[in-house]
Amino acid sequence: MAKKIRTTILVGAQWGDEGKGKVIDILTEDVDFVVRYQGGNNAGHTVVIGDDKYVLHLIPSGILHEGKQCVIGNGVVVDPLALLEEISFLKEKGIDAGKRLKVSDRAHVIFPYHRKLDELREVRKKGRIGTTKRGIGPCYADKVSRVGIRMADLFDEAYFRERLKLNIDEKNAILKNLYGVPGFSVEVIFDEYRRYAASLKNFVCDTNELINKALSDGRSILFEGAQGTFLDVDYGTYPYVTSSNSTAGGACTGAGIGPSRIDRVLGVVKAYTTRVGEGPFPTEFNESMMDKIRKKGNEFGSTTGRARRCGWFDAVLVRNSVIINGIDSVIITKLDVLDDEKKIKICIGYRYKGKKYVTFPAIPGFLENCVPLYEEHPGWMEQTSDVTSYGDLPLAARKYIQRIGELAGCGVMLVSVGKSRDQTMACGKKV
Ligand code: IMP
Repeated sequence: MAKKIRTTILVGAQWGDEGKGKVIDILTEDVDFVVRYQGGNNAGHTVVIGDDKYVLHLIPSGILHEGKQCVIGNGVVVDPLALLEEISFLKEKGIDAGKRLKVSDRAHVIFPYHRKLDELREVRKKGRIGTTKRGIGPCYADKVSRVGIRMADLFDEAYFRERLKLNIDEKNAILKNLYGVPGFSVEVIFDEYRRYAASLKNFVCDTNELINKALSDGRSILFEGAQGTFLDVDYGTYPYVTSSNSTAGGACTGAGIGPSRIDRVLGVVKAYTTRVGEGPFPTEFNESMMDKIRKKGNEFGSTTGRARRCGWFDAVLVRNSVIINGIDSVIITKLDVLDDEKKIKICIGYRYKGKKYVTFPAIPGFLENCVPLYEEHPGWMEQTSDVTSYGDLPLAARKYIQRIGELAGCGVMLVSVGKSRDQTMACGKKV
């Protein structure tokens, strides 16, 4: 008898923005809990329900479903102001997060000096990462440097003041002496964050206990990854990455559950590739193709509004992603964006210094200088956004989907051809 799936980790299998928001929204129907385990308000999950569009940065997209418990795990970095703004935004839409959301007492807190340092480092000409400037990297840096401040710490007045002073003294020296900008006041930030803490008091708890109890009680959980595999601090295109583990393993440390309790890992891939910010991108389009796909796919960041870079589907990266994450099946999004293409390319390898690679080695400069090797597929040249069943997709589209699954080395579970929930179909096994 097939094992009942109770725990699923959903990851982005490329560079983020694969359309995870919509997929999470669909999968949430069948689960009791939705848990975020890494990243912060650098993420942007877009969900379209009827005529309403919701963009959530920090709160799990599952919040849009009544009766689901949402959790921001210990691996997330929380900007309390951003969180309170998101809670108010939901309230305006008639959603009471108070009943549906819990935040880990161990989650680290983003402060204004983190945002400032993130911004100042990005002004440099060399070594820019193209971050979202939300203070994510500096906050995680403090966490691993063991000087960070956690949600729980905000509630202990004396301890919080002492930790804050330690941090601000150090950061102010950097801000003034290295960057020549004014520093921050301990008292101003202390008062501001004590106010945030008071507003968030009822949300904060030991979420590890909550999640593990839910599992013991037979409840089902979806762990929603933010960003994507190649933005992972260990496995991504370092240093052009985010500062957390966006891969599936991050769910265990970032939510406090053991690996043996994970039943399934799903990966979301776009039918092509995009990335935001700096960093190598072997299959990046030329300008005219970029322009066309960017417009058709509305490829603009939902957090910063920046134009996304676009390129052909890179099967080498996705195959790697399937291995690193232990992905059981992929979900292909935005197939309809390729509807007008006569020819569609898939990258199946790289040439670098005369040698062929089908992997993604850590050699410095490899991805910047390799030449992608493509196979070409005929396009379907038909509109797919109205198709609701896999068998009704044009043959060339089905062949493209099957080839992606074959190259990725896993099954294809769903295919999405538009923003709304009903523009999604289960994928058939046969072309
Ligand atoms: P940070 O996470 O703001 O530090 O940014 C580091 C890199 O990750 C930059 O290239 C960002 O553009 C990218 N990034 C961060 N969050 C997302 C996301 O949700 N989608 C896509 N790219 C992201």
